[in-house]
Amino acid sequence: METKLPKHIAIIMDGNGTWAKKRGLPRTLGHKKGSETLVSVAKECSNLGIKYLTVYAFSTENWSRPKDEVDYLMSLPHSMISRYEEDLMRDNIKLRFIGFRDRIDERTKKEIDRIEKKTENNTGLELLVAFNYGSRDEIIKATKEIASEVNDGKISVDDITKDYFSKKLFTANIPDVDLLIRTSNQIRISNFLLWQISYSELYFTNTLWPDFSKEDLDKAIEAYNNRDRRYGGIKK
Ligand code: FPP
Repeated sequence: METKLPKHIAIIMDGNGTWAKKRGLPRTLGHKKGSETLVSVAKECSNLGIKYLTVYAFSTENWSRPKDEVDYLMSLPHSMISRYEEDLMRDNIKLRFIGFRDRIDERTKKEIDRIEKKTENNTGLELLVAFNYGSRDEIIKATKEIASEVNDGKISVDDITKDYFSKKLFTANIPDVDLLIRTSNQIRISNFLLWQISYSELYFTNTLWPDFSKEDLDKAIEAYNNRDRRYGGIKK
């Protein structure tokens, strides 16, 4: 059977802390190893011809973690961009950060803006890093924007369609997620892309994110291939 590739894969990269604890290492080292896994998975998606990959790197709820862990996670965009800038250009990857910019420090914001501009015309994999992201807040933000437009007479209530609403989300113009993967044996969505995963296939694995390999990705895609997506209809 021919492999059907998901166009858009989303990943909840869970288990970095557990991976570190099992080795008696600080949690930050789990995130360090996890960030290396992210690089290899992005390259693999790019090689396979996946068009969109969205990863959950920092949620709006992660601020409640210990300060040294938050500081480490906040430092990752800057250090990873410096380290992998040439690879992104060579592999033709378009990098974007989705989420709220308000609590992100100026230096990181500048670096994010710079790399988004630099890679915006790349035509290969589009890598979306959800950073200070929360889906309910994203939906509220969209709702407020639309309410203001109605209030100002720019649109009427009947103009509010699913398409219109989608375009107000951070993922505007990006197709819905086909396959959502969560690692580390946690069967939850955790406020990730609630609107965008309405019809996604869900794949959960016990593998901890730092251990997630090319074979694990292949297995998830194979499982996706074996699903029968009906979108509420019946089998054709
Ligand atoms: C969840 O594991 C993981 C995170 C909250 C962070 C994920 C971040 C990366 C993989 C690095 C890439 C980041 C950027 C900014 C590019 P956990 O800490 O909840 O693990 P546990 O459940 O085992 O404690």
